[in-house]
Amino acid sequence: MKVKEIFNSDFAVYYEKVINRLSSPVQVNRWRRALIRGTLSVVPEPEVVVDFCSGAGNMGELLLQEKPGVKVLNCDISKPLLHLARERLGSNGFYVCSDNRFFPLKNSVVDVLFSSFCVRNSPEPSLTVSESLRVLRKGGVWAILDFFKPEKGNIFFKVNNCLFKGFMNLSRLATKSKEAIDYLFESIENFFTMSEFVSLLNKNGFRVLIAHEFMGGVAGGVIAIKEVEDV
Ligand SMILES: C[S@@+](CC[C@H](N)C(=O)[O-])C[C@H]1O[C@@H](n2cnc3c(N)ncnc32)[C@H](O)[C@@H]1O
Repeated sequence: MKVKEIFNSDFAVYYEKVINRLSSPVQVNRWRRALIRGTLSVVPEPEVVVDFCSGAGNMGELLLQEKPGVKVLNCDISKPLLHLARERLGSNGFYVCSDNRFFPLKNSVVDVLFSSFCVRNSPEPSLTVSESLRVLRKGGVWAILDFFKPEKGNIFFKVNNCLFKGFMNLSRLATKSKEAIDYLFESIENFFTMSEFVSLLNKNGFRVLIAHEFMGGVAGGVIAIKEVEDV
């Protein structure tokens, strides 16, 4: 099953209502909040904010707690998840069904672009990187959160990775879409390590300001600034 099909199947709602509801308060919202706060420290008053692969608007909801009144353009390939985002964010958001290889935006218009668990799901990550560069204005920030391919072998990482895999394998027991969990593990193995990703951004018009590991490297947050003029 392709990613697009996974997130347009019943699994999408299971992902949001079960996996996300359980993991967000325990860990993932902490990572999302760190990314949002780091981003706002660079661009304190963003006007044009885009959340690509917004899913059900988890980033947008936390951003609104930090910046009440901000409007977020939520883009995602999943109509069921965009529907949940609209229920959650209402008139604080705009909602566009779109693919993360082709952003529905003009050049150099975005102040802040969030991509949480997005680039790894791209069928062509290099296109997602070039589209992100294209739509950001010079000085704009791209904030990425993802499960990068592990590069650590230390005990802290191993314990945390066991917890993460254990939680995901438990989720597998409760869903009909076992392929979706298999896909998650495969996509992490096929993704960049955080250092590879940082180096890719630094060579492609961005300057990475922050690259931070969560849970000993199970997940990572990257904050990068667009350094070049129009591309
Ligand atoms: C793990 S969810 C993360 C959602 C949200 N960013 C969050 O932090 O909760 C991954 C999201 O990526 C979206 N997605 C997957 N492939 C995509 C693509 N090719 N283009 C746009 N969105 C995609 C899925 O529909 C899903 O909403």
